[in-house]
Amino acid sequence: MLRHIKPAEVTLGMFVHGFVGSWFDHPFWRKKFLLTEEADALKIRESRVSAVIVDTARGAAPVERPAAMPIAAPANMLPPRYAPAAGRYRPPPAVQPKTSFRQESRRAARIIDKSKKKVAAMFEAARLGHALKLPDVLPLIDEIRDSVARNNRALVSLVQLKNKDEYTYMHSVAVCTLMINFARMLDLDENTIRSMGVAGLLHDLGKMAVPQMILDKAERLTDDEMTMIRSHPERGHALIGDNPDIPDIARDVCLHHHEKIDGTGYPFGLKGNEISLAARMGAICDVYDAVTSNRPYKDPWTPCVALGRMLTWEGHFDERLMRVFINSLGFYPAGGLVRLNDHRLALVVDNCPEDPSGVRVLPFYCTSRLQELEPQEITVTPDRGVQILGIERPEFWHFEDWPTKRNAILAQAIPLSTAA
Ligand SMILES: [Fe+2]
Repeated sequence: MLRHIKPAEVTLGMFVHGFVGSWFDHPFWRKKFLLTEEADALKIRESRVSAVIVDTARGAAPVERPAAMPIAAPANMLPPRYAPAAGRYRPPPAVQPKTSFRQESRRAARIIDKSKKKVAAMFEAARLGHALKLPDVLPLIDEIRDSVARNNRALVSLVQLKNKDEYTYMHSVAVCTLMINFARMLDLDENTIRSMGVAGLLHDLGKMAVPQMILDKAERLTDDEMTMIRSHPERGHALIGDNPDIPDIARDVCLHHHEKIDGTGYPFGLKGNEISLAARMGAICDVYDAVTSNRPYKDPWTPCVALGRMLTWEGHFDERLMRVFINSLGFYPAGGLVRLNDHRLALVVDNCPEDPSGVRVLPFYCTSRLQELEPQEITVTPDRGVQILGIERPEFWHFEDWPTKRNAILAQAIPLSTAA
């Protein structure tokens, strides 16, 4: 069991699982070890970390204190306070007028253009050790929020199209957009939605402290390079520091977006509910954008393929949140089951190569007539024609052996596609 204790409370025989606080503030390169030397215990007690995480299953447990002297959890491990981000706040109009994908795409392109310069300037300032000036980018976050409210697929689709040179900045804008879209789907309040946007924008700030050649390296990373990359959550957290402009959600997401539900993530190996809602959302948005982007060492996956693969990574993401995320995007996992608004069930094939917002599906079952249909591929695009209502659980429709059913649908459809 993992326990958080104050640095002053460490004793020999404890198994140190991790540290909470700045990467720069703890005195050890490795974090997981059995504490056997008094000199090491002294280093921890004198360090500036806010807490030490000890594993009581692998070493001595901390001495229980009377209830009158509770051990305070470190600030960044508490449930986020969801304090609003500082800066001039422009509340959204009560109802954003909806726009078509095509109309919104033009505005979204302008937002992206503007964001490149602003975010690059902010990150460069952080790299040089200057304080982050959040108020400079808050109007941009409000513009992203408004664009997503008018049409939630335009900006989400466009931010995916980034070239290799601008990846670091555009990945931040993309995760900001995805977090805002995700938070809206969860019906979070406006202040929280805005803070989620800030968190998305700053989640990888620590990569400013990692040499670009390591971030872009196509070959296998050495152990030292891997350690350097894996230190970026703590480095980012240290760069944010106690800047009063930055909301706590952003600190939380910055430090914990590489944790995994099964405890195999880093930097602390937190599990399940030890990871906050915001950090679990951040993990999904971060990976989704990374795998759908063009990188020096790999070609991008289409959104449908990416979501299909992410769903199979057991223990990585919060499964329930993953389904909400999928529905928030309007893209659906390749190989997944969806319901259309004309009483048909369909198998998702992939995105449409000609239209980044289109999804190719094979309708195969009519739910009103309870009848199998001959599967014929159609492309579903937002704003017109047949629409996807959402992802469905195959078991709910009694497709207990979904992989077999899916293969049968594909086998039936392929001769038709070939003939066409
Ligand atoms: Fe990261």
